[in-house]
Amino acid sequence: MALGKIIEFNKISDPRGNLTVAEQWKDVPFEIHRVYWTYDVPGGESRGGHAHKTLKQCVVAMSGSFTVTLDNGHERCTYLLNHPWQGLIIEPGTWRTLDDFSTGAVCMVLASELYDEEDYIREYDDFKAIYGK
Ligand code: TYD
Repeated sequence: MALGKIIEFNKISDPRGNLTVAEQWKDVPFEIHRVYWTYDVPGGESRGGHAHKTLKQCVVAMSGSFTVTLDNGHERCTYLLNHPWQGLIIEPGTWRTLDDFSTGAVCMVLASELYDEEDYIREYDDFKAIYGK
């Protein structure tokens, strides 16, 4: 079962360099309220390790590659992100872990809500208690 959804943005190919655009609702299935990115991730480090109660996200490997493992409390699924014209949609109630960052990898996240620590579930046991039933 697919726990996330890979979407393909359009790629405007050009000998001067390619261009990809993401518009809310049209290319990404939610209103974009926040964008953040992680970079300079040391080899062997892991990001994520939490779930969100209401937040929807679209994760894009702007440069380099990394894996995203999704867990809905019952099943796990791992995606390799390595194209800046692809995005992984993560729905609320999904535990995510990002691993295997290549040197120079940049992970950009389009998010449906502003930052709210109250929206996080940071303990896996708490996540399992809610979603693993
Ligand atoms: P976190 O979401 O745990 O990072 P990741 O999932 O990428 O590993 O956030 C790490 C820290 O950054 C945490 O202290 C909260 C802070 N933060 C913000 O202040 N605003 C934000 O939009 C995000 C995503 C994180």
